[in-house]
Amino acid sequence: MTPNSELRSRQWFGATGRSGMVYRSWMRSQGFTPEVFDGRPVIGIATTWSELAPCNVHLHRVAESVKRGVWQAGGFPLEFPAMALGETLLRPTAMLYRNLLAMEAEELIRANPLDGVVLLSGCDKTTPGLLMAAASVDLPAVMVTGGPMLSGKYRGTDVGSGTAVWRFEEDLLAGRMTQEECAFAEGCMARSNGHCMTMGTASTMASMAEALGMQLPYSATWPAVDARRYETAQRAGQVVVDLVRQDLRPSAIMTRPAFENAIRVNAAIGGSTNAVIHLLAIAGRLGVPLTLDDFDVLARDVPTLVNLQPSGEYLMEDFCYAGGLPAVMRELDDNGLLYSGAITVTGSGAGANVADAPCWNREVIRTVAEPFQPAGTGTAVLRGNLAPGGAVIKQSASSPHLLKHRGRALVFDSPSAYYAVADDPGLDVDEDTVLVVRYCGPRGYPGMPEVSNVAPPKKLLLRGVRDMVRICDGRMSGTAYGTVVLHVAPEAAAGGPLALVRTGDWITLDVPARTLTLEVGDDELARRRSGWQPPAPIASRGWTRLYTEHVLQADAGADLDFLVGASGHEVPRDSH
Ligand code: FES
Repeated sequence: MTPNSELRSRQWFGATGRSGMVYRSWMRSQGFTPEVFDGRPVIGIATTWSELAPCNVHLHRVAESVKRGVWQAGGFPLEFPAMALGETLLRPTAMLYRNLLAMEAEELIRANPLDGVVLLSGCDKTTPGLLMAAASVDLPAVMVTGGPMLSGKYRGTDVGSGTAVWRFEEDLLAGRMTQEECAFAEGCMARSNGHCMTMGTASTMASMAEALGMQLPYSATWPAVDARRYETAQRAGQVVVDLVRQDLRPSAIMTRPAFENAIRVNAAIGGSTNAVIHLLAIAGRLGVPLTLDDFDVLARDVPTLVNLQPSGEYLMEDFCYAGGLPAVMRELDDNGLLYSGAITVTGSGAGANVADAPCWNREVIRTVAEPFQPAGTGTAVLRGNLAPGGAVIKQSASSPHLLKHRGRALVFDSPSAYYAVADDPGLDVDEDTVLVVRYCGPRGYPGMPEVSNVAPPKKLLLRGVRDMVRICDGRMSGTAYGTVVLHVAPEAAAGGPLALVRTGDWITLDVPARTLTLEVGDDELARRRSGWQPPAPIASRGWTRLYTEHVLQADAGADLDFLVGASGHEVPRDSH
């Protein structure tokens, strides 16, 4: 390639004198030949590999494929670690650290001699965290997600990671499954590298990255162990070098039309409610106007096309073999539900990318004419005196008979307070009760964990009740199901009306009308508010203090207030 003096990496590797010698000499300690400093694009590969994040544990191999592509295209690849967030192990929740990953990756990309970056993610928070970082730096970037695990297999049936856990737990509580059977089932769910293979948050966010145009077509669905994932990764390495040459940056790709595409795709795939928070946060980094209500308005005319757990039957492997996300996006485009001109990392529009995408299995990927679930059954945004800032509910994961419901509140200030009595046969609860679990929001827990879908009380489970209305200011795993009102804003810890609910209050949920109402008068609420005390600060130092003092509410994406927006990629002052 022609050396490009405009590349920011030239300010390191093209420097003369002592500084240039320092930058090049130490890099040569890795055995690189001097030609790598000839002016070719330097491509960072941000990997969230870690043995503590098992969904991402194969990303070092994916990185090797990306490097091949970068070398092929005439670039110089350099892999670097970014904070790995393992959803299953991190306490109190990986979400507490999404913004820390975003901040770390943003600073690493900006502070190093990089001209472009490939983002390797997988587990839930790693995808939005890296996209937020890339958005704020705004250097050419391509995402490569690690892909889903192979389908789980338990006693002759397919079982989905995450989704099956909730079902097994309920079966165990109800005496339909033994502890030994559960232990055996553990080994049957997660049987290969990759992230959860239901349409949970990881699969959803991988799909969002593809729908936004930030990863190559089919990237979201190739199984983690499929050779074609590695082929796609190699292609991504080639593509990012081209993006640097064209100076095609995330701000030109993740535009308002791209976000509208992502929201519609999320509705079509029956995606996770967590996409709402993550997309709002990414949009906030780019200055793209996006609101909670957009998710309701834009999704209302989009039917669910993909028949995947937890809303449906199949798993990501089936989705892949049926045609993957391109088949869904083509169906949306053919029905006028896609901005086909939204530019993507391929250099082409979203519509052109999928114009010939085939569908091989209409049982898994349905059509708009004969959908899996009709339009208007996706994520709904609720408002009312209990959630003035909004709340969401995933209709497709809810019980239809509970979408209009009135019941008396049974209130708990934490999930543990609920679980302490959940098995009590004397608990004053029936199937009409509305379980309220609060202080689980961004500030309150902290980090807004996925605890909202508490299992129904044991006495109801034993009577065969599998679902009831639950209301919480926390989140729910994308793999979970149930009639659960989530993301209530403002959260209880911020003094939202949720903090004022008392056991015995009547609550009305009316999803068709998009309302959530606490049937308590304003005067009584004002009286209760005057006696309400905010909880004591959770942390006196460190990240948790910074987080709780600056985190925004769910309806604003739960980013930190001082991280909203972009700092760009101006080269910082010299270090020596
Ligand atoms: Fe990592 Fe589900 S735990 S994707």
